[in-house]
Amino acid sequence: MSTRKQHLRVAVLASGRGSNFAALLLARECGDVPIEFVLVASDKANAGALALAESAGVPTLVLDPRDYPDRRAFDLALFGRLAESGAELLVMAGFMRIIDGEALTPWIGRMINIHPSLLPKYRGLHTHRRALEAGDREHGASVHYVTAELDGGPVIAQVRMTIEPEDDEQRLAQRLLPLEHRLLVAVVADIAAGKLALEHDTVQFDGRALAQPLQWLDDGLVIAD
Ligand code: GRF
Repeated sequence: MSTRKQHLRVAVLASGRGSNFAALLLARECGDVPIEFVLVASDKANAGALALAESAGVPTLVLDPRDYPDRRAFDLALFGRLAESGAELLVMAGFMRIIDGEALTPWIGRMINIHPSLLPKYRGLHTHRRALEAGDREHGASVHYVTAELDGGPVIAQVRMTIEPEDDEQRLAQRLLPLEHRLLVAVVADIAAGKLALEHDTVQFDGRALAQPLQWLDDGLVIAD
């Protein structure tokens, strides 16, 4: 007898404090997002995300890159464990490593990342500083499908904010963070609801190919004009 699955099985990869994971946990606990966490994996034993997972009863995994001869060996081990966890979706939430193409290829279309810039602007690090240095009026965050290109996969959705004269790097990051949380929760909710998919490098939303990333506006994701 087959039982219909109710919850999408999610594994999270995080290297740091884990506030994005915390936002997902809260949304799940409130019943807003039909997901189940099967694993939180990290390359850092002291990642805050691991402590959060432990207190929520979510299984954790730490693999230390220094225990592997090279990045490929580490990534193959990590992604092997992620596959064993039974995850259907991998969420990179502050996972600060570039991933080997061979390890991630089987997950293309089932792995997303939150990045604190309006991609394709500012791939990589120091996004807030770079937006300020460029004199941008607007900043934001993006959730994208992960491909072998760093922060380069198809963008699913973005949230935008106006840069204020008082913003320095830290203030801008602080103001953006709660928006990141809402964006990530909304995207994961729509993936869990079966509304989002990746087909031939194009994001599909409700069966329609998106010409532009979805935009977070007020309290939900909308299709951009
Ligand atoms: C976030 O700004 C995210 O966009 C970036 O790394 C940071 C992670 O923060 N990829 P947290 O660990 O989720 O608090």
